[in-house]
Amino acid sequence: MKKISIAIDGPAAAGKSTIAKMVAKKLNYTYIDTGAMYRCVAYATLKQGLAFEDEKAVSDLLKNMQIEMKPEGTIYLNGEDVTSSIRQNEVSMGASIVSKYQAVREFLVEKQREMAQGGGVILDGRDIGTVVLKDAELKIYQIASIECRALRRHKENLERGMASDLEAIKKEIAMRDEQDMNRQISPLKKADDAIEIDTSEMSLEEVVSRVMELVESKI
Ligand code: DC
Repeated sequence: MKKISIAIDGPAAAGKSTIAKMVAKKLNYTYIDTGAMYRCVAYATLKQGLAFEDEKAVSDLLKNMQIEMKPEGTIYLNGEDVTSSIRQNEVSMGASIVSKYQAVREFLVEKQREMAQGGGVILDGRDIGTVVLKDAELKIYQIASIECRALRRHKENLERGMASDLEAIKKEIAMRDEQDMNRQISPLKKADDAIEIDTSEMSLEEVVSRVMELVESKI
């Protein structure tokens, strides 16, 4: 069977990574979480005590940045396991800020293309279908209403035993979307040839089977 490249883009907390992981498992493909890479840059910025708004300082950090993504999902930044620390709220907002910078995008897009070489990959993010893998055989634009996305994230937090504030989540998601859609370089938008899936009223299984149908039509 032909090994294709799959791009999944969409707004924050739309469940892209959950779906991408499930589909990757079914197909025995490699899943690449590109948002985690922007989160690593934000985490490094915080750790050095630098401001996310300081483009020069953030760009300078890239020279000494080693990001390793293990197949089972563990993420190392310069040897430190940052898998859970990059999920903090402060890092989410920071990732949305540092992802505006050209140096950051060039650095990470190059890595993402290297990792995706040869196909048999699913990448999720904001600019996969429009920039990183313009020639991907399958492009999906996954959306859901803001209420739905915030509620899912809220439930996830509670299940993990974390404190959670639904209204605060809604605000954070809206702020990041606004930032990600309106930046100058590679803003979040649906690629012309992407297929939109609105998951607001769908179960995980329904979304996975819809994506699998689309994959089967391409391989
Ligand atoms: O997918 P995520 O929520 O983990 O991404 C965190 C931030 O990183 C997101 O708000 C914008 C940025 N990002 C990006 O600019 N391009 C990508 N391909 C992935 C993420």
